[in-house]
Amino acid sequence: MGHGLLQGKKGIIFGALDQKSIAWKVAERCVEEGAQIVLTNAPVAMRLGEINELATTLNCEIIPADATSIEDLENLMTKSQEILGGKLDFILHSIGMSVNVRKKKDYTDLNYEWMKTTFDVSAISFHKVLQTAFKQDAINQWGSVVGLTYIAAQRTFPDYSEMAESKALLESFARSFGYHYAKKANVRVNTISQSPTVTTAGSGVKGFSDFFGYADKMSPLGNASADACADYCVSLFSDLTRYVTMQNLFHDGGFSSMGMAPEILED
Ligand SMILES: NC(=O)c1ccc[n+]([C@@H]2O[C@H](COP(=O)([O-])OP(=O)(O)OC[C@H]3O[C@@H](n4cnc5c(N)ncnc54)[C@H](O)[C@@H]3O)[C@@H](O)[C@H]2O)c1
Repeated sequence: MGHGLLQGKKGIIFGALDQKSIAWKVAERCVEEGAQIVLTNAPVAMRLGEINELATTLNCEIIPADATSIEDLENLMTKSQEILGGKLDFILHSIGMSVNVRKKKDYTDLNYEWMKTTFDVSAISFHKVLQTAFKQDAINQWGSVVGLTYIAAQRTFPDYSEMAESKALLESFARSFGYHYAKKANVRVNTISQSPTVTTAGSGVKGFSDFFGYADKMSPLGNASADACADYCVSLFSDLTRYVTMQNLFHDGGFSSMGMAPEILED
């Protein structure tokens, strides 16, 4: 049930591929809370995913955009404002992809051309989204931009490979751009560091299901679900969190503060 937390707000949601996607849940929750949204994803995801279904259910439009293309992003920002009838109040960046992980390259034998693509898609795209919005002055005062990240940016999770560095870069962009956007228009920029979640991107990481169970036991509240992540995103897009910016916010059931969990030893 909605509480009208986003009544009258307009936003763009990147990254809804299928029903498991975190962005899919965020889109549903934003609309439930009264927001008007535009969905976007890479052109290839239009063919492979189920985004059309979501757009029909939520009665919103889809504008394809490769988040690494400035031209696509400029078109997306301009058209979204036309469709929504004004400037934006929030943007969700829910994008991640590692070429080396996909191609099962070991971390000690990475292909650097692929690594550049990984960084471009997973991290630099966040800067590109922010810069495009900034130049077009596309976000209203006190707007909110959120990117999704993972704790491998701070601690070593060997199978996460080059995505660890992607996330470190993403989180750093949130801090740095957060300064500039706060000064320009009081826009806040944060990252949410989410628990392991069963999605297409998540399950692509080697040993994911074992690790999912491990993280669940390590976290006193258990792993945070995609639905719970959507709730947290809504709170950050709402007016109730107007002074939260330049933060990396852990949404992980307590995992990040744990040292040792007796539950792990009980097996
Ligand atoms: N699933 C997890 O365990 C987990 C944990 C923490 C953080 N995250 C992060 O959450 C975010 C969303 O991932 P998810 O788990 O919902 O998986 P997902 O596979 O459903 O979403 C990833 C999305 O990125 C999109 N994408 C890839 N390349 C793109 C490009 N060039 N332009 C535009 N979009 C592109 C894909 O089409 C897809 O919709 C990612 O940043 C991911 O790293 C996921």
